Amino acid sequence: MISQNALYTFLLLFLSLSLGSSSTTQASCNLSALNTTSTIYYAKENQTLFEIANTVNRGACDIARYNRMADAMIPLTSNEEILIPPEVCQPDNSTCLIVAEPNATYADCVMGGPHTYTTLAGDTIAYIALKLNLTVDALLSTAGMQDMGSPYDGVETGQSIKLPQCSPSQCVVRPEEFVYGTYKDAAIRLGTTPGQLMAYNPTYSHSAEAQGGGPVLTMARDCVLLSKNITVIS
Ligand SMILES: *[C@@H]1O[C@H](CO)[C@@H](O)[C@H](O)[C@H]1NC(C)=O
Ligand SMILES: *[C@@H]1O[C@H](CO)[C@@H](O)[C@H](O)[C@H]1NC(C)=O
Ligand SMILES: *[C@@H]1O[C@H](CO)[C@@H](O)[C@H](O)[C@H]1NC(C)=O
Ligand SMILES: *[C@@H]1O[C@H](CO)[C@@H](O)[C@H](O)[C@H]1NC(C)=O
Ligand SMILES: *[C@@H]1O[C@H](CO)[C@@H](O)[C@H](O)[C@H]1NC(C)=O
Ligand SMILES: *[C@@H]1O[C@H](CO)[C@@H](O)[C@H](O)[C@H]1NC(C)=O
Ligand SMILES: *[C@@H]1O[C@H](CO)[C@@H](O)[C@H](O)[C@H]1NC(C)=O
Repeated sequence: MISQNALYTFLLLFLSLSLGSSSTTQASCNLSALNTTSTIYYAKENQTLFEIANTVNRGACDIARYNRMADAMIPLTSNEEILIPPEVCQPDNSTCLIVAEPNATYADCVMGGPHTYTTLAGDTIAYIALKLNLTVDALLSTAGMQDMGSPYDGVETGQSIKLPQCSPSQCVVRPEEFVYGTYKDAAIRLGTTPGQLMAYNPTYSHSAEAQGGGPVLTMARDCVLLSKNITVIS
């Protein structure tokens, strides 16, 4: 497995470089010099979206959103088709990333559901917890994975793990088109978490379809606790 820590280190380095250069990017932007061609890029196995973004001089998050990727961090597969969006003045390499905010607090249970999460390529227990806005301990208490080492180690793909659920709580769950963005964008808009959208749509993978329409996903929205007295059940 790729070391998750190495990946994060790389990301942090990348982000600090990117942020440092953003003001100059804006000042020197010549609109008529932008490359407005949209092409398809065929990824190599284990190539990261950030490497591709560097190669084609686009923002990793702009690419992730244009392709309706669940998450820019999901490892790419051999010959995966990546639509390259038109170039923009301020490439966005960071706002789609699911990262721990300073001073963030996390919950002991998931509001509304679902009951299980299916592990994706690149997942660790710590990352799954972050995506579900859960503490690592809360997730470990139901995931049944205590014996598998550090929460930062990669987990096997395609495993079903149980989630702690808040009772009573609910989300409104309904099919909706996923037109643009990543799950993080959708989660902020809908009032849910990217992890819940992943759990509800375990087989989702983006495709290089034309922009405009979108695949239909099970979207959870307006997730709330229904009482001040919450029990964690699983
Ligand atoms: C991609 O990563 C996987 C898991 O770490 C590894 O087994 C595989 O050999 C890698 N493939 C290439 C082409 O580097
Ligand atoms: C902007 O880009 C166009 C096309 O590349 C070029 O012709 C023009 O001179 C540039 N303008 C400036 C102010 O650099
Ligand atoms: C414009 O960007 C595409 C990638 O989408 C690239 O294939 C093409 O070579 C670029 N064109 C120019 C003139 O740089
Ligand atoms: C984002 O990444 C692109 C491509 O690597 C780079 O050219 C650009 O300076 C970065 N922009 C920002 C705002 O971080
Ligand atoms: C986080 O908490 C520390 C200590 O309470 C505080 O000094 C800091 O400003 C907070 N940071 C943010 C981004 O809220
Ligand atoms: C995460 O959970 C905490 C504790 O319940 C809550 O205060 C916070 O708003 C939640 N954050 C998100 C992004 O859902
Ligand atoms: C909270 O809910 C639990 C389970 O439904 C119940 O057993 C308990 O009495 C409730 N506590 C209060 C203070 O209402």
